[in-house]
Amino acid sequence: MAKKSKPLDFHSKWRYAPAPESSDHVELKTSYGLFINNEFTEPLSGKYFETINPARETKLADIAEANQADVDRAVKAARKAYDDVWSKMPASERGKYIYRIARIMQERARELAVIESMNGGKPIRESRDVDVPLAAAHFFYYAGWADKLEYAFPGKPEVRSIGVAGQIIPWNFPLLMAAWKIAPALAAGNTVVLKPAETTPLTALKLAEIIRDADLPPGVVNIVTGAGATGAAIVNHPGVDKVAFTGSTEVGKIIQKALAGTGKKYTLELGGKAANIIFADATIDQAVEGIVNGIFFNQGHVCCAGSRLFVQEPVADLVIRKLKDRMETLIIGDPLDKNTDIGAINSKEQLGKIKRLVKIGIDEGGTCYQPSCSLPSKGFWYRPTLFTDVTQASRIVQEEIFGPVLSIQTFRTVEEVIEKANNIPYGLSGGVWTDKGSKIFKVSSKLRAGVVWANTYNKFDPTSPFGGYKESGMGREGGLHGLSPYVNLN
Ligand code: NAI
Ligand code: MG
Repeated sequence: MAKKSKPLDFHSKWRYAPAPESSDHVELKTSYGLFINNEFTEPLSGKYFETINPARETKLADIAEANQADVDRAVKAARKAYDDVWSKMPASERGKYIYRIARIMQERARELAVIESMNGGKPIRESRDVDVPLAAAHFFYYAGWADKLEYAFPGKPEVRSIGVAGQIIPWNFPLLMAAWKIAPALAAGNTVVLKPAETTPLTALKLAEIIRDADLPPGVVNIVTGAGATGAAIVNHPGVDKVAFTGSTEVGKIIQKALAGTGKKYTLELGGKAANIIFADATIDQAVEGIVNGIFFNQGHVCCAGSRLFVQEPVADLVIRKLKDRMETLIIGDPLDKNTDIGAINSKEQLGKIKRLVKIGIDEGGTCYQPSCSLPSKGFWYRPTLFTDVTQASRIVQEEIFGPVLSIQTFRTVEEVIEKANNIPYGLSGGVWTDKGSKIFKVSSKLRAGVVWANTYNKFDPTSPFGGYKESGMGREGGLHGLSPYVNLN
């Protein structure tokens, strides 16, 4: 039996002094046009939309909304740059441009991190220590491949670029997803039309400035802003040769249908509902940190979030007690404060979805626990939340919530947990916590998931491929695997 513990009362006794990161050095324009041919241009649509700070509900800038004619302009610019310059350039020269982007990103890392947190709501600690350094690392990594493509695909007589890549990214890792998409495309000799998500366009537009400052030939990278209709215009444009999409399974299915029979290549990185599995022989304190990192990192807006926790019965009470204590110490608030663990929910829509699903969890008989922390009055916030008394059939166990909401189930045997973990439409990622190497090999090889972390969670590296099975999508990004969707090999 777990001992009854007194509540920690963390927030009244252990307050940290505020440690806000300054945003004085950040230069934002009041309005951004479309980045085509290395210039910010007015949209032919004549339309703009607002982008806000979700922690304050204040406007940051007006953003151009690209219509079909605007997308057409961007695709034509990319095609011309491909035909005239980029595909003809020696690969080692291409590599130099990509290195240059990486270096300028590092030089402007602080500014990028602050803008990422202002526009998306994620804690500055994450954008500073994870998003921005990893984004630069992707450019460095793929820059190195640019002139070594024949070694990337040994035995293939010819490695050819594809042409124009249309790339659509989501709002949870805006700059990092832009890097995942643009870096391998350029390294393999393609040109790009990229669309950031409508709630988080600012770091992609800063990246556009960096690309211009790095002196890339005009038209090699074009960044068009807008919402779903703009994305659809990219997908359906006949001049686009390859589509790369990260986002919801719902839109992934629409794109797959639209592309069927067109001959366009595509990769889809979609949703997830990962099992994070704690065996009784795991180092429990370390596992509790891994659970917290797995589900509360980036407010749970993570496709590979460890949103389904499976705890082996003998340690279930202990793990849940320690987890609740740890949740009591999480600091929720200003994304720009360096102490903040959990920032703002990215948008009002996403907050609505989280609330809806939590209500469903409660209506279906789940027991909901939230720590006692207070929330700021303005902005979009959600307390870290865990559910017990749920089953495999519960909707909150089956559906992606994309918020800081964890559901907990217990298990007895290895076979049982493998079956439960795989009994889901998704297959993106998973976690295993145990003292036994043999158990790690057995479980990780039986989990139908693209990535399985052992005794850690949410670790990323540009050399390592990432992607899913089933409704989590198709194709891999990162590493050598991430190059192959951008080349023709015959
Ligand atoms: P979404 O899939 O609608 O948006 C992702 C990107 O696709 C955005 O840039 C959006 O403008 C674009 N898009 C939307 N409709 C499109 C269309 N018909 N054709 C081409 N592009 C289109 O995702 P949304 O609505 O922002 O989030 C809904 C849910 O999707 C989230 O609650 C979460 O469960 C999941 N999601 C998963 C992500 C992942 O990393 N796998 C990222 C974002 C959302
Ligand atoms: Mg959507």
